[in-house]
Parts: sequence; C-alpha cells; structure tokens
Amino acid sequence: MKERAERNRTLIIKDEEIDSLKELFVEESNVINLDNFENKIIKADLLNVIDSIPDNVADLIIIDPPYNLSKDFNGLKFSARSSGAYLEYLRLWFGRVCKKLKNTGSLYLCGDWKCTSSLQQIIEEEGLTIINRITWQREKGRGASKNWKNGMEDIWFAVKNPKDYYFNVESVKQKRKVIAPYKENGKPKDWTESEDGNFRITYPSNFWDDISIPFWSMPENTDHPTQKPEKLYAKLVLASSKEGDFVFDPFLGSGTSAVVAKKLNRKYLGVEINEEYCMFAVKRLKMADSDMSIQGYTDGFFWERNSLNMQMKKKDNKDKNISTNMSLF
Ligand SMILES: C[S@@+](CC[C@H](N)C(=O)[O-])C[C@H]1O[C@@H](n2cnc3c(N)ncnc32)[C@H](O)[C@@H]1O
Repeated sequence: MKERAERNRTLIIKDEEIDSLKELFVEESNVINLDNFENKIIKADLLNVIDSIPDNVADLIIIDPPYNLSKDFNGLKFSARSSGAYLEYLRLWFGRVCKKLKNTGSLYLCGDWKCTSSLQQIIEEEGLTIINRITWQREKGRGASKNWKNGMEDIWFAVKNPKDYYFNVESVKQKRKVIAPYKENGKPKDWTESEDGNFRITYPSNFWDDISIPFWSMPENTDHPTQKPEKLYAKLVLASSKEGDFVFDPFLGSGTSAVVAKKLNRKYLGVEINEEYCMFAVKRLKMADSDMSIQGYTDGFFWERNSLNMQMKKKDNKDKNISTNMSLF
C-alpha cells in the first residue's frame, strides 16, 4: 500500500477488505446466469458481455472510454493510434452499447480534442441525434514546450429520438456569488440578497468551468488515472434522468457514474475490466450508504469552484442538518 500524507483522503483498499469487496461485483463468467442487471458492477471485458445485457433498458448511458492516448489503466495498456484505427476501435462496441438505450434515452460520450471528431462520427454513424457538445474546462497535466497545454474535454450529448427525450434544466441550475450587485428601483436585479451573501441563480450553458478534477483532499478521489468528478456526472444524471431511472456505464473505471446514480436515487449498471477499479467502485458504493453528499452540489444547486466557505456558512445556517445533497466543496 502507498504511503499517504496525513490529510490525503484518497480511497484505499486494505488487504483485509479485498475478499469482501470482491463478493460485491459480478465476475464475467457469471454474467450469462444473471437475470437482473439492476445495481450491478460487472468485472469483465465489455466486448465479452455487452450482448448478454438486455437491449432497451437504459434511460441514460454515460461513456468515458479510453481516449486516443497511450495510457496504462493499471496494467491494461491502451495505445495511441491513427484516427482511422481509433474509429475502428469505437466501431467494435459503440453500436452494441447503443442497443441498450431506450428509444427515449440519452447518451453522453466523453473525449478530448484529439479523439472528438471520431466520437462525433461514430454517434452519427449509429443514427443518434447530437443535441449538444459540452466543453468541460479542467486543470490537469503538465504544460508542453511545443504545444498548448490541454485544458478541456468534450462531452457529446446525443439521443435516439430528438422529439422525445427527458431533459430537466431546472435540476442543474448554478449558484454564483454576485460580484457587482446591480439594483433597479432599489431592488436586486436578477440576484438575491440573503444572510449568506448575494447570489445569482443561473441556467447552465454548454461550457462548464465550475468543476475540478478529483484530487487528494477529496474523499471521492481514488488512484484511477482518469477519474471523472462526481459533480460533473451529477449534472448529466440530474438533467437526463428521473429518480428510479436506469443509468448504464460500459467503462466504469472507479465507479463514478454508479456512485452518482445511487446518491441521486437512480439504478445503475457498470462494466469495468480491471479488478482493482471494480473494488474502488464497490467500496465507493458502500460508502454512499452513509454519505450521500456530492461535492459542489448543495441544496439543489451547483456551486462555483472554491466556494467551500460559502457552502459551509449555508450548512451552519441550516441548523446542522445533514441534507442528502450536502457537500463541502
Ligand atoms: C476513461 S476510464 C473511465 C473512468 C471513469 N469514468 C471514472 O470516473 O473512474 C476508462 C476505463 O475503461 C476500462 N476499460 C478499457 N477497456 C475496457 C474493456 N474492454 N472492457 C471493460 N472496461 C474497459 C479501463 O480499465 C478504464 O478504467
């Protein structure tokens, strides 16, 4: 086990936990006998199990596949390749994954600038309708001496039927501190005054600059190299599914989509090839039994970055009740 600094909250798996955690996910060889796929984590190669999962079950599919980069997923090495070869890789599974989506369902597909054109192409090849492309501005990685450092990721939003899909924009509103509080006739214009401060509630655009990548002081952090933040997936889940709906993630990684689905009262199904990542996922799901908070999502709003103090103030003012959506960041 790695040595950690005292305040480092990165999730760890202790030796004595391994056997009990392994019992919480389904092994590839048992998938064939599975008659209920709800709230399951499957440890398997997606290509070997995707056809055993029933079609038309998912209200929401979130896909965060290996990008077209050389990356070591705990021993599984994905190699950067030509765009054509990457497209062929997507063709191996994307259509089969889309079969799991209900006709009224929504799908999000994540990527970076380099693979994004292949992602757009595969969505269009499959006959889905692209509704939007979200840009997530994020800070990670070293700068390059002969290039611009990458500071963004894309999340393609597509549906099977553009005339019939669920989208709840009211559930994903943002809360931002008002920098220049403008008044008209002595009253706040488009913002509210409260004892916690002056805030503006806004509708979200397709440019997301309020979400940090998980880091060592956050309890959701694991050693997964490309873990997505719960706050990011919470926006997708809240906007594009209802309580009780079914969320499928074919490249589960450390379990973010399943954990967020559970915290927001949705059902989940995740497939992940790596055993350690499956353990991260099931341990995080267990932890959600006692902590349903999603960092950055407090009181039904998504708060801007670095607003911990304001949210703490809100928390103190709320009589120290632990709300299901309470978060500290
Ligand atoms: C980009 S990561 C997903 C990270 C995830 N969104 C999270 O928040 O942790 C992609 C994951 O796909 C897994 N993977 C790659 N090929 C796979 C396959 N054929 N079947 C199942 N999982 C696979 C990798 O092990 C890796 O964890």
